[in-house]
Amino acid sequence: MAVERTFAIIKPDAVAKKVAGQIIARIEENGLTVVAMKKMQLSEQGAQGFYAVHKERPFFGELVTFMTSGPVVAMILEGEGAIKQWRDLMGPTNSNEAPAGTMRGDFGTDIEQNATHGSDAPETAKLETSYFFNANEISGITEAL
Ligand code: RTP
Ligand code: MG
Repeated sequence: MAVERTFAIIKPDAVAKKVAGQIIARIEENGLTVVAMKKMQLSEQGAQGFYAVHKERPFFGELVTFMTSGPVVAMILEGEGAIKQWRDLMGPTNSNEAPAGTMRGDFGTDIEQNATHGSDAPETAKLETSYFFNANEISGITEAL
């Protein structure tokens, strides 16, 4: 499997619960490397743009309210099969259905307040990464990934 990068967010619910450090520790314990990271407050426009794919969904307004309710931690993670690995570590969207040991199972509350985001494919990983980070904010070798 190839080394790849994915984009991750520790969402406002997890930051407010002060479990961001635990989430980052688990990322590292599982062999992924944090190659970029920043804590930030999303604007309404920023959250709407990030989740634009969901703009026709009934939960879009609530999702934007949630994602702007407090600071988030945005990260780029690198490792072999990082996109799937991070999705597996997060667990399913609905925290109530997520097994213990996953981010959402351990730190999420419900289908919306689910602690973390992860890109779902190489194309979205690239798009989401460039939505949040400039090339000079990313450590390591940035070409080719
Ligand atoms: P994400 O994009 O945040 O990694 O989550 P995901 O792929 O597992 O789920 P997705 O379908 O892309 O949904 C994006 C986020 O919207 C919120 N959501 N609320 N109220 C609802 O029915 C509902 N469904 C989804 C969640 O915060 C979800 O992660
Ligand atoms: Mg998604």
